[in-house]
Amino acid sequence: MNSFFITTPIYYVNARPHLGHAYTTVVADAMARYHKLLGEDVLFLTGTDEHGDKIVQAAEKEGKTPKEFVDGISASFQALWPELHIANDRFVRTTDAHHIATVQAFLQRVYDAGDIYFGEFGGHYCYGCERFYTEKELENGLCPQHLTKPEYISEKNYFFRMSKYLPWLKQYILDNSDFIRPERYRAEVLAMLESGALEDLCISRPKNRLTWGIELPFDSEYVCYVWFDALINYISALGWPDGRDYEKFWPGEHLVAKDILKPHAVFWPAMLKSAGLRLYHHLNVHGYWLVRDTKMSKSLGNVVEPRAMSNIYGTDAFRYFLLREMHFGSDASFSEEALVSRINADLANDLGNLFSRVLSMTAKYFGSRVPRPKDLQTDDTAIAELCAVSMHNFIQLFGNVQFAQGLESLWELVRALNKYVDMQAPWRLAKQGNMERLATVMYVLLTAMRKTALCLWPVMPSASVNMLKQLGQVADQNQAPVVQLEAEVGNLDGLAPGTIVASVSNIFPRIDVKSGDQKKPKGMQQEGQGTQSKRKSSMCEVPVPPKSAKGEVDFAQFTGLDIRVGTVKKAEKHPNADRILRLEVDFGEGVTRQILSGLAEYYTPEALLGKRVCAVLNLAPRKIRGLVSYGMVLTASGDSQFSLLGVDRDVPDGSEIA
Ligand code: ME8
Ligand code: MG
Repeated sequence: MNSFFITTPIYYVNARPHLGHAYTTVVADAMARYHKLLGEDVLFLTGTDEHGDKIVQAAEKEGKTPKEFVDGISASFQALWPELHIANDRFVRTTDAHHIATVQAFLQRVYDAGDIYFGEFGGHYCYGCERFYTEKELENGLCPQHLTKPEYISEKNYFFRMSKYLPWLKQYILDNSDFIRPERYRAEVLAMLESGALEDLCISRPKNRLTWGIELPFDSEYVCYVWFDALINYISALGWPDGRDYEKFWPGEHLVAKDILKPHAVFWPAMLKSAGLRLYHHLNVHGYWLVRDTKMSKSLGNVVEPRAMSNIYGTDAFRYFLLREMHFGSDASFSEEALVSRINADLANDLGNLFSRVLSMTAKYFGSRVPRPKDLQTDDTAIAELCAVSMHNFIQLFGNVQFAQGLESLWELVRALNKYVDMQAPWRLAKQGNMERLATVMYVLLTAMRKTALCLWPVMPSASVNMLKQLGQVADQNQAPVVQLEAEVGNLDGLAPGTIVASVSNIFPRIDVKSGDQKKPKGMQQEGQGTQSKRKSSMCEVPVPPKSAKGEVDFAQFTGLDIRVGTVKKAEKHPNADRILRLEVDFGEGVTRQILSGLAEYYTPEALLGKRVCAVLNLAPRKIRGLVSYGMVLTASGDSQFSLLGVDRDVPDGSEIA
């Protein structure tokens, strides 16, 4: 039996899971399920990355020890995945004793091979990025990502002789055209390798600066650099060097976004080569989910909550959207409008409608039993051929990480089936008493619907199971519905005449955007059909408030705002603008933030010192008369009244307002 090993990045536990993490993990789950459908032996690994400076700082901010802190967040990742119908086989944590021992064994091996040396190094270290910057890379002396001043650090450290492996790596990537895919990322890595900018990798941190890490086996004064530690998860979870899973599943497939291309495409292959291990099969790299054209990320604070989306719109619909909307490799924009229109167009109008009309006609004309077909006509064989082609393309494209295109190919079939219903007009055949032809038409539809539902198991496991059950099939969300999907291509069988099917289907109800209260596609949330209860009726009647003059914003727009509480540390008049005060506000970010605000008419600078304020932090920086403002403090204003917004309890600086 073929084996298939798929991994996601192990996520940092310095914040809670967001849409980006959910996307990668949903894709990995869909890939794992797809390979199960092909009859392979699959292992799907995800986990959390728990060492490093960032974690220590995040823990301090919450007044917890690093261990308490990482336990909490790691648990929130583990709890989220089943809610998104993600069924990972393993969950690795870099604080697991087994992982720690593996990292030490790996380090020792590379050390013994002569690829680790001790040397001195100085550079500008940004704690936010956990990396050193060269003078040239800084912008006005600040980290270009965080706009904060990095610390200059010079110290003795251990280095991995990565440069030794770069010529070999370049040749390997040239020889293996899909080792890194899609192509644009392969080109990016080749350019990186050609630029000559890559050097040896500093792989240690002295304990006097950082203790939250894995101790080097050859020097107890040092801990391991977080990336060197983290990458090894992919084999520690398999029990390297002599675990049975390692033997069976390595090498595997990695899945990451473009933010962590370099460590996966350069550090990791060099590490594997040095330790004498085989390289992974492919590095599959996707783009970013953007919100209003800006990268969605923890540090920017404009995150979309996957749990909220899945609760409101249904887990499987959300999964479908993620896989259908993003062309793997490119960036994509997230909005609830786009999500709703995909659900309404593809799921409700196309797929849901097909199931609903065909099953109700089967009930009406054949007492909900799959009829026995007679001779196929040209229209029928055209559908049979399209079904084979769509499935074939779906299988090829999915295997090639082209999920959106694979689904599009399947939808060509779904749409053709709806057209086929319109053209064949079963109701007319029934009226004419042409039961033979009617039986054939219904049979063609029902068998093609079964094939479609099978293909969708990786994408929408629960909805696929519902569809299959409606077609009288035995199905289980956690068990692939067929042993070999490829064997299902090229024929219109698999559904025995006489099988009893459901008489109604409402798997993907339309989302009525106007009525507001009916947002949830209820059929998606419940098992089976017929769950259309009117939950609304039990609620009290409340007056409907008037519409805001500013119109409606969607949830993602709102959660995209990073509004936080801070303390004013310094306040003075803007040197060139009478009405503006220049504030330095502490939001718990390590440095204060300069904010300019038109407060001078209402507050003296002295009155503001020590005041708690609320401000939007992720507005694009704005220059006002020569000074830059990195945020906007919130105020309330009436006719001639004016007030800063504050908090009525003593929450820490940096507390989020939501
Ligand atoms: O980098 N769009 O962890 P991390 C799409 N611990 N995907 C996104 C995304 C976005 N806007 N934001 C995040 C780390 N992701 C390391 C990894 S692996 C040995 C160590 C997803 O928590 C995407 O998969 O910062 C990205 O690569 C990953 O989260 C980064 O997660
Ligand atoms: Mg990150």
